[in-house]
Amino acid sequence: MTASALPLIAIDGPSGVGKSTTARRVASRLGWQYLDTGAMYRAAALAIHRAGLALEAREDLERVLAGLALTQEGTRIFLAGEDVSEAIRSQEVTRRVTPVSADARVREVLVDQQRRIGATGHWVVDGRDIGTVVFPQACCKVFLTASPEARARRRFLELQAKGQGAVFEEVLADQRRRDEADSTRAVAPLRPAEDAVELDSSDLTLDQVVDWIVARHQAHP
Ligand code: DC
Repeated sequence: MTASALPLIAIDGPSGVGKSTTARRVASRLGWQYLDTGAMYRAAALAIHRAGLALEAREDLERVLAGLALTQEGTRIFLAGEDVSEAIRSQEVTRRVTPVSADARVREVLVDQQRRIGATGHWVVDGRDIGTVVFPQACCKVFLTASPEARARRRFLELQAKGQGAVFEEVLADQRRRDEADSTRAVAPLRPAEDAVELDSSDLTLDQVVDWIVARHQAHP
């Protein structure tokens, strides 16, 4: 770790690549804390929806963002003290979060909160812009990828296991739309940081990915 580097592992990558589970496991192996920034964007989308706001409602939106009280305890996410961990994973929120996360005002507020949380270091943080924008000084940056088919297959099996009917082609098409939106938005688009190491997890198990990241961190602390 160089003098200016922060002891923080940034894990970025597209949706459905397994970042959250990986990041949580890496954090537990190192005895560090884990921050799920995707959950923060989801909770913001939920708060904006509940307030009945369109992103165009400028002043009201700024008021809702200013009062956004988000906290994370373990794996649970709280919005003004209410546990919204399940609510933020609904199809409705998943659909609404893409435009919300592309809004510069939303990003400014959430990036500020993320920086305050991670400032002391010893966090594993996952998202889309952690290595590029939020913590460019992170000591370890991983850009986790997997082929669109591998990611959609995992998501499809997950939905099936939950008893939710899904059509593989629809899961794949939906994921392509999210990839496209995340990578082409004007603010903080999804892309690897110049100093990130890329890991293609298409043919790796979760344990192999976790081992690889922990080993990489220990070799370049
Ligand atoms: O990782 P996820 O699916 O829970 O993320 C939800 C949304 O938030 C998704 O549209 C991407 C966006 N996101 C983002 O723009 N920046 C982040 N750091 C994390 C998530």
